[in-house]
Amino acid sequence: MKQYLQQLAILAFGIKLATGQGTTSTPAIHSTGWNSTFELNSEQVKAGNLTNDSVAMINTIVNFDRTQLANGGPHQDDFYNVQNLPQNAWPTEPGRTIKLQKFTDPSAFSIPVGTAMSRIVYSTTNANGTLIPASAYILWPYHAKSFKEKRNNSSASSAPVVLWTHGTSGFYADGAPSTHRGLFYENFAPFTLAEAGYAVVAPDYAGLGYLVAEAGAGDALNALRAAQESFPRQLTNDYVVLGHSQGGAVAWALSETLGKKDHDFSDVAKGHRGTVTLAPPTDIFGLSPGIANFLSWIGKDLDKIFPMFNLSDWLTPLGVKRTELANQLEGSQMVSSVLLVPEEEIVQPDWKKTWAVKAFESLGNRGNRPFKGPLLILQGMEDPYVKYNATLSAVTKTCQNHPNDLEFLTISNTNHFGVINAGKQTWLKWIEDRFSHKPLARNGFFKSQLDSLLPQENYRKTQKSFSLWAGKPEWWYELYTAA
Ligand SMILES: *[C@@H]1O[C@H](CO)[C@@H](O)[C@H](O)[C@H]1NC(C)=O
Ligand SMILES: *[C@@H]1O[C@H](CO)[C@@H](O)[C@H](O)[C@H]1NC(C)=O
Ligand SMILES: *[C@@H]1O[C@H](CO)[C@@H](O)[C@H](O)[C@H]1NC(C)=O
Ligand SMILES: *[C@@H]1O[C@H](CO)[C@@H](O)[C@H](O)[C@H]1NC(C)=O
Ligand SMILES: *[C@@H]1O[C@H](CO)[C@@H](O)[C@H](O)[C@H]1NC(C)=O
Ligand SMILES: *[C@@H]1O[C@H](CO)[C@@H](O)[C@H](O)[C@H]1NC(C)=O
Ligand SMILES: *[C@@H]1O[C@H](CO)[C@@H](O)[C@H](O)[C@H]1NC(C)=O
Ligand SMILES: *[C@@H]1O[C@H](CO)[C@@H](O)[C@H](O)[C@H]1NC(C)=O
Repeated sequence: MKQYLQQLAILAFGIKLATGQGTTSTPAIHSTGWNSTFELNSEQVKAGNLTNDSVAMINTIVNFDRTQLANGGPHQDDFYNVQNLPQNAWPTEPGRTIKLQKFTDPSAFSIPVGTAMSRIVYSTTNANGTLIPASAYILWPYHAKSFKEKRNNSSASSAPVVLWTHGTSGFYADGAPSTHRGLFYENFAPFTLAEAGYAVVAPDYAGLGYLVAEAGAGDALNALRAAQESFPRQLTNDYVVLGHSQGGAVAWALSETLGKKDHDFSDVAKGHRGTVTLAPPTDIFGLSPGIANFLSWIGKDLDKIFPMFNLSDWLTPLGVKRTELANQLEGSQMVSSVLLVPEEEIVQPDWKKTWAVKAFESLGNRGNRPFKGPLLILQGMEDPYVKYNATLSAVTKTCQNHPNDLEFLTISNTNHFGVINAGKQTWLKWIEDRFSHKPLARNGFFKSQLDSLLPQENYRKTQKSFSLWAGKPEWWYELYTAA
């Protein structure tokens, strides 16, 4: 023990020297509220009929969320400003780069050592077919993974592409993963992929149609086109799609899009090697808990798809007011979870009977459609949001009516995010095998199961840490590993 302490002291001393700053900043306390001093104003408090307790909670969460935004987020970071581009910079078709940031200064991000970032603004179409701009990031590996079988000197400098479709990160510009210091999913997927040698092409979904998976699939394929247009030598044409939760539905919808007889993506369809979806919601209104949140998130823009829709069809006057407040704050899901309560005061009791529920289900729900395989679906048995039974039912219908290569892997004792980590060896290997053109373990539909090495009660079930950005000089003492 004593020896250990001495070693630690030496290590810390070594690091302090290694920062090489001569005069080191005075260590300062690292507060999660450091870069934001937001407070709800009295009009907002009144309009939302908020208690002092909820005001305090919302202020705390908004300040935390805004602190996670690199360079102050889309409203302050000039990269996202496309207002002043000349008219001829605007493409007339989807999938074109509008603005390219080849090198994204990583100093405001907490991406891993030995990774690099680029960002693009590109053209895509929203749920009603209108051409709109959207953003995406590319996270680069230091050393691209190579696949000997296809290896050729001309492709030696290109990285295999994983098209990563993220889960719900919010419903406003401030929720875009490309603006989050940790790219929102951190080690769960994008960091893991880049460190394994893949280039991660990751769309932020465009605003309207956020929960319309098919629109998200278009955003993803258009981001891929634009990324390949901008980096023709560094990115492979071949790609595998990986998505989680809402993005799992997007990934599935992408396979369904490519499985249609007619689609507008024949250029990028060729390179599709397969799709992995983790915990994909297939029954959007069956998601529980938190239906008040979903009705607010879906409902706030639904009139742009169905002009007859009125948010008051689903929400009470208070629910409508609170949604308007969420719009003003660009509140995250965590803000919604304290703003949109209690459910019975927010949600209209008859919401389930409205025509808009049926109409949206046909847009939002996945499965029971033809798709381009192969498809690997991972589902945690204890997922409280995306229920095992719901996924099983969507998978079964799909396989009965539209047989294709589909593996359904269930993971015991695993929840919504746990499925990503528990299944990591499996999906990494599967992705690798698709790039190296290995045959599938089995063709057609089959089920498989994964259990833990140790007794399940030994394992961490939920996350208790995140990668906190510590880039200010006065936090040097937190970075033992910065040398
Ligand atoms: C506002 O909240 C109070 C309780 O905090 C409640 O008694 C009152 O009915 C609410 N008013 C509206 C318009 O919802
Ligand atoms: C709520 O906060 C306001 C402003 O700080 C204060 O005037 C009011 O007394 C507080 N209400 C309660 C019930 O604590
Ligand atoms: C902190 O916030 C300010 C203003 O909101 C913003 O301009 C700045 O870029 C942010 N700093 C960092 C390091 O993100
Ligand atoms: C399509 O979406 C755009 C942008 O949200 C909106 O302005 C327009 O009215 C919509 N068009 C239709 C036909 O709904
Ligand atoms: C290898 O490179 C040559 C020359 O650039 C090219 O014609 C050929 O298609 C490449 N082969 C593969 C398998 O990529
Ligand atoms: C690869 O590049 C090296 C060095 O330029 C060259 O000697 C070799 O012939 C090339 N191999 C192929 C298969 O093109
Ligand atoms: C939506 O419904 C509310 C409440 O019934 C009403 O005041 C409002 O005018 C409606 N909006 C539209 C666009 O119909
Ligand atoms: C799933 O469905 C089966 C058959 O309908 C039922 O027996 C089982 O209890 C359900 N499990 C859960 C977790 O809902």
